Amino acid sequence: MALDKPYKDVPGTIIFDAEMARKGYHLNQFSMSLMKPENRERYLADREAYLDEWPLSEKQRQAVLDMDLNAMMAEGGNIYFLSKIGATHGLSFQQMAGSMTGMSEAAYRDMMISGGRRPEGNRLKDLDGWVPPAKGEKSETMRPDAPAKYTSALFTSHVPAIGAAMDLGKTEEPYWQKVFAGYEWTREWVKESKPDVVILVYNDHATAFDSSLIPTFVLGTGAEYPVADEGYGPRPVPDVQGYPELASHIAQSVIQDDFDLTLVNEMVVDHGLTVPLSLVFGELSPEEQWPVRVIPLAVNVVQYPVPSGRRCYELGKALRRALDKWDGPELNVQIWGTGGMSHQLQGPRAGLINEEWDNAFLDHLIADPLGLTEWDHLEYVDEAGSEGIELVDWLIARGAMDDQFGGDAPEVNHRFYHVPASNTAVGHLVISNPEK
Ligand SMILES: [Fe+2]
Repeated sequence: MALDKPYKDVPGTIIFDAEMARKGYHLNQFSMSLMKPENRERYLADREAYLDEWPLSEKQRQAVLDMDLNAMMAEGGNIYFLSKIGATHGLSFQQMAGSMTGMSEAAYRDMMISGGRRPEGNRLKDLDGWVPPAKGEKSETMRPDAPAKYTSALFTSHVPAIGAAMDLGKTEEPYWQKVFAGYEWTREWVKESKPDVVILVYNDHATAFDSSLIPTFVLGTGAEYPVADEGYGPRPVPDVQGYPELASHIAQSVIQDDFDLTLVNEMVVDHGLTVPLSLVFGELSPEEQWPVRVIPLAVNVVQYPVPSGRRCYELGKALRRALDKWDGPELNVQIWGTGGMSHQLQGPRAGLINEEWDNAFLDHLIADPLGLTEWDHLEYVDEAGSEGIELVDWLIARGAMDDQFGGDAPEVNHRFYHVPASNTAVGHLVISNPEK
């Protein structure tokens, strides 16, 4: 059930994957800092002092001081990053590559001139007793004893005005009372259900990503995510603690499962992520800590084309396969789908709300998620408004549930619908996989 990494055994080769990237993060970032001339100058003037500025492990630091590229790579360095160190020392790429082989510089150069190193005897398949790895199959069934247990899916709108109402102490006002009443059940429930980690699916609202970079699916593999300033100052809530080990495991599995994720170690998180946390865990000051670790999963719904509901559902299935392969500590995992429901924030049709459509969406999400994947973009935009497209995010959490892997249907724990919060219809749903 473990992750498939046959490349680890290729002789004389270290493959840089999500696990190695996590290990070598600061080493590689230090290397990249040497792309600036002023940093190269400071580094060469006093290497020890410059390295003091980076949180390297003792092994990483010593490897840099020894200019030992093999040792750096064993500690998570990647050759393209590390080449910036070599360049700073005036080494050519041929000198760097040769330095890792145990050959003299002249012997390595001569070998390359005479055609390079031959593959025979240097391949995994040339080793005694090697058998080709079994062909990977995409599992359509659950792992019954998986240490990472996907217990519940939670869905909620993430309207920024809800966050503002909490931050400005307006939750008791009659207008807002009607919204927050829908979350009273959830706040009690979460004290019992106590997730260790939430994979929080949301969409960034031109906050962490602008027109310079438009990734379709972004997985946060970092340790911490600061709360964004969206123009009104940052919300007065805690920064978000990530789960790099599980996130890099998910990245490895989901990308091997044919999904091209963008991996992000440093990003701010906007109301799309923090408002759901506030709705479920209540008011916390910036000095406190959210009682859960969060893996952000951001879906582009700002610029067309956006992913289809079908694609999001399939990503959910890939996420579940990743969770099933986890062999780390036992974890109570929830996946949250956020955004929606019907709303349009732009143009002469602004203010559009479609109560009937929203409730049909919830019905299908509960009982017919595969049928829901047939609803195309036009259906979302036409019926639920231009910003109602956020609802495709919800299919990720749903696609990962037991009944999509041959298990029983989820139990509906809580359902709430209210109009309006600012410009938007608020929907909220909690459904749980059957207890085993
Ligand atoms: Fe949104």
